[in-house]
Amino acid sequence: MRKTQVAIVGAGPSGLLLSQLLAREGVACIVLERRSRAYVEGRIRAGLLEWTTVELLKAAGLGERMMREGLVHDGFLLAFEGRTHRIDLKGLSGRHVLVYGQTEIQRDLGEAAGCRVVWEAQDVSLSDFDSAHPRVSYVQDGVRHSIECDFIAGCDGYHGVCRASVPSDKITHYERAYPFGWLGILADLSPLNEELVYVNHRRGFALCSMRSRARSRYYVQCPVEDKVEDWSDERFWSELAARLPAELAARLVTGPSIEKSIAPLRSFVAEPMRFGRLFLAGDAAHIVPPTGAKGLNLAAADACLLSQAMVEYYRTGSQTLLEEYSSRALARVWKAARFSWWFTTLMHKLSDDALARKLQLAELEYLCDSDAACRVVAENYSGLPWPRH
Ligand code: APR
Ligand code: PHB
Repeated sequence: MRKTQVAIVGAGPSGLLLSQLLAREGVACIVLERRSRAYVEGRIRAGLLEWTTVELLKAAGLGERMMREGLVHDGFLLAFEGRTHRIDLKGLSGRHVLVYGQTEIQRDLGEAAGCRVVWEAQDVSLSDFDSAHPRVSYVQDGVRHSIECDFIAGCDGYHGVCRASVPSDKITHYERAYPFGWLGILADLSPLNEELVYVNHRRGFALCSMRSRARSRYYVQCPVEDKVEDWSDERFWSELAARLPAELAARLVTGPSIEKSIAPLRSFVAEPMRFGRLFLAGDAAHIVPPTGAKGLNLAAADACLLSQAMVEYYRTGSQTLLEEYSSRALARVWKAARFSWWFTTLMHKLSDDALARKLQLAELEYLCDSDAACRVVAENYSGLPWPRH
């Protein structure tokens, strides 16, 4: 039986960042990941970092390429009814954000890898996490291996085994699936605009984002049942252009896509995030719809809080931060869940209901007229302050 201090399930951003933060403080851990490293690093995800996330990644030793290649954005555009309104993040909240793809962060984390990662660890199973000696086991090359540890970190995403291992009477799920998805494409073309553009259009939402000055990332709202094969590049570009204000549509540079996928939208929170010596972090505990790009930032905040709690335990023997982890993390999670739900509701076509559309437009016009309303958006978008201890 192998022993370690922390067994981490999942090598996505939350698992690898936690492992990096723990390793830097001398805490031993092993990461168990079901997929191959190439698969995990090939996934295309969101790409917008709050500044607190940027600072955390820098403190974890991951700042070098990020600060060289990331793009600092001081604002973004809202577009509706043929007009645009800029949210001045810097002016209204004093903060900016960084455009840097999660795919790049995943690579940077993979290279830094604070702890040993067991890739392609099959059939991970957890036991005894309500005791002082939790265990995790997995199968590799047909052989089952067991690890005894002090703590298990469930960083294994929405479909993972950790949350599913908790008895159902010990956990509450809050969940809403939205009746639409985002069709996203990646293309090596110069972005439409220097800053991101979020579009409310009667045909549906659209977002013009980027990964670099030469790589664009665009999304259009689509029925959740649609298949990628239903969407040729030509159909995508013409739908995107139809949703943009004319003067932006005129600037759109089109060309072949290098990736295309459809993601469903969901709001989900599991409470609590701690069960004895099992702690959930990231998508294992919560999913937000992508509007506002909070998912990765929440995962980073969880990893930060959890590493601080574990490090304090190993340094001083105190369990205070471990006990407070769930409530501290959830306080932040619910605020981001609220903002992501609000921004989604404001910008998407929710139904054919004419009243709902009129109310959206009234709210967008109110935003154009009110600095106070824009400040609320800017504060939430650029990231709420992190809880202190
Ligand atoms: N055993 C081992 N690994 C598992 C298991 C399992 N049973 N189930 C899932 N995993 C792995 C997945 O293969 C994945 O690599 O756990 C990892 C979870 O990673 P993510 O889904 O990226 O979740 P997280 O690290 O919390 O990151 C959240 O990613 O999905 C985005 O928008 C989200 O930006 C947010 C971030
Ligand atoms: C992205 O670039 O993928 C992205 C950016 C901002 C969002 C969502 C996604 O709000």
